[in-house]
Amino acid sequence: MTTANLSLDGKDYELPVVTGSEGEVGVDIGKLRAQSGAITVDPAFTSTGACNSAITFIDGEKGILRYRGYPIEQLAEKSDFVEVAWLLLYGELPNTKQLTKFRAQLTYHSLIHEDMKKFFEGFPNNAHPMAMLSAMVASLSAYYPETEDENHEQNIVRLIAKVRTLATYAYKKSIGQPMVYPQNRLNYCENFLHMMFAVPCESYEVNPILAKALNMLLILHADHEQNCSTSTVRMVGSSRANIFASISAGICALWGPLHGGANQAVLEMLQMIDDDGGDYQKWVQKAKDKDDGFRLMGFGHRVYKNFDPRATILRKMSDEVLAELGVEDPLLDIAKNLEKVALEDEYFVSRKLYPNVDFYSGILYRAMGIPTNMFTVMFSIGRLPGWLAHWKELRDEDSRIYRPRQIYIGATERDYVDLNQRG
Ligand code: SDX
Repeated sequence: MTTANLSLDGKDYELPVVTGSEGEVGVDIGKLRAQSGAITVDPAFTSTGACNSAITFIDGEKGILRYRGYPIEQLAEKSDFVEVAWLLLYGELPNTKQLTKFRAQLTYHSLIHEDMKKFFEGFPNNAHPMAMLSAMVASLSAYYPETEDENHEQNIVRLIAKVRTLATYAYKKSIGQPMVYPQNRLNYCENFLHMMFAVPCESYEVNPILAKALNMLLILHADHEQNCSTSTVRMVGSSRANIFASISAGICALWGPLHGGANQAVLEMLQMIDDDGGDYQKWVQKAKDKDDGFRLMGFGHRVYKNFDPRATILRKMSDEVLAELGVEDPLLDIAKNLEKVALEDEYFVSRKLYPNVDFYSGILYRAMGIPTNMFTVMFSIGRLPGWLAHWKELRDEDSRIYRPRQIYIGATERDYVDLNQRG
C-alpha cells in the first residue's frame, strides 16, 4: 500500500502512505492543502500522527508497551531507571562505561544553585508542588543558558539530576521542614528518598524495599509516545524554546486530572468512597450516569483498549510491596473491588475501559509515605527522560515549528460599529 486516494469536489488526489516498523499505516496529508485547499479536522488528534518517532511503541489493542523495542515487562524486572533513561535518550542499552559515567554525572549535578533555594520562600506553604516544580524547572534556564550547551547533553543531565532536588525541596517547603541536600554516596532513587524523608535531628536509612519500588515506578512512567504532556514538550520545543521552558510546559500539561493528575485524583476518589462507607457499587453506577459528572479516575485510556500493561505490573507490585512493608491499606481493597465490578459491567466493557497506569500507582506512593499532592510530581520525575528523549529527537531532526490549521466557524466580515450605535 503506497498511496491513498481522496476524492473531493469531483477531483481525485493521490496521497502517499507511510508504514512504520511495526506495520502501522499513516496517510501523509502534508501536501493536501497545497493540492486541494482542504485540510483534515481531528480536534483531539484521535486519528492524527504528529510525527515519526523511534522511541516508544504502544499497541493499544494488544496492551503492548516497548521502549526502543524492549518490552516494559522485561525492563521493569531487569533494568533500573537510570539505565532506562539512557536507553530512551540514546536508543541503545548503555555499556558499563557509559552507564557508570551517566550515574556519576547524575550524582555530580544533583545540587541546585544555592540562590534557587530563596525562590521557595516566595511560595505560600499550601502551594501545590506541581506549581513549584514547573516554576523552578523554567527558572533553571536563568542559571544555564542554552548557548553554553550546544548539544543539550549537559542540560539533559542537569534536569534528570536536579528534578529530584527540586521535587523534594517543594515537599519540604510544604511541610515546613528544612531542605535536605543530596548525598553522593546514594544512588538515584535512594538519594530521592533520603532528600524526601531525612530530617536533621535523626539519621535516616533508606529502606531497600522502597528504593526498589520507586525504581520500578519511575521505569513504568518513563515514556508513553505522543501523550498530552509529551506532545506539549514537542510543541514548545519546535519553536526552539529552551529545554527548561519546554519541560516546564510538559509538567503543566501533565498536571491535568485527565492526564498525570489522575493518580492524585484516584487516591482522592478511593478515600472519598472509603469515607462514604466503602460502597464501591454506588460509585460505579455514578460513573456510568452521564448526568452525574463523576468519572472512575484511573480508568480508561485514549490508546489502550485492553489492559494497560503498566497497571498489570503495578497491581502485582502493590500486593508485594504492601506485604513486604506489612501495610494493610483499605483503599487497595476498594480499588480491587472497583476494578472487578467495572470489568464485569457492560458500560465499561463496551467502551473498553480498563485500569490505567494511574489506578494503582497512588497506592504504592501512599505506602511509601509520599503525600497525595506529590503523586503527579512523582509522575513528572518518571516521565522526564521520555520528555527529554522526544525533545532531543525533534531537535536532532531539525523539525519545523508545529503550527496546526483550523476550520473557522466565527462571524464573517462585518464593519465596525461606533459605541453610540450599539444599542
Ligand atoms: C494518563 O495518553 C497517554 O498515554 C496518557 C498516559 C501516559 O502514560 O502519558 O497513559 C497517562 O494520562 C492515563 C489516563 C489518566 N486519566 C484518567 O484516569 C482520567 C479518567 N479517564 C478518562 O477521563 C478518559 O478515559 C481519558 C481521558 C483517559 C481518555 O479520554 P478519551 O480517549 O477522550 O475518551 P472519552 O472521554 O471520549 O471516553 C469515551 C467514553 C465516553 O462515554 P460515551 O460518550 O462513549 O458514552 O468512555 C467514557 C466516556 O464518558 N469514559 C468513562 C471514563 N473514561 C471514559 N466513563 C467513566 N469513567 C471513566 N474513567
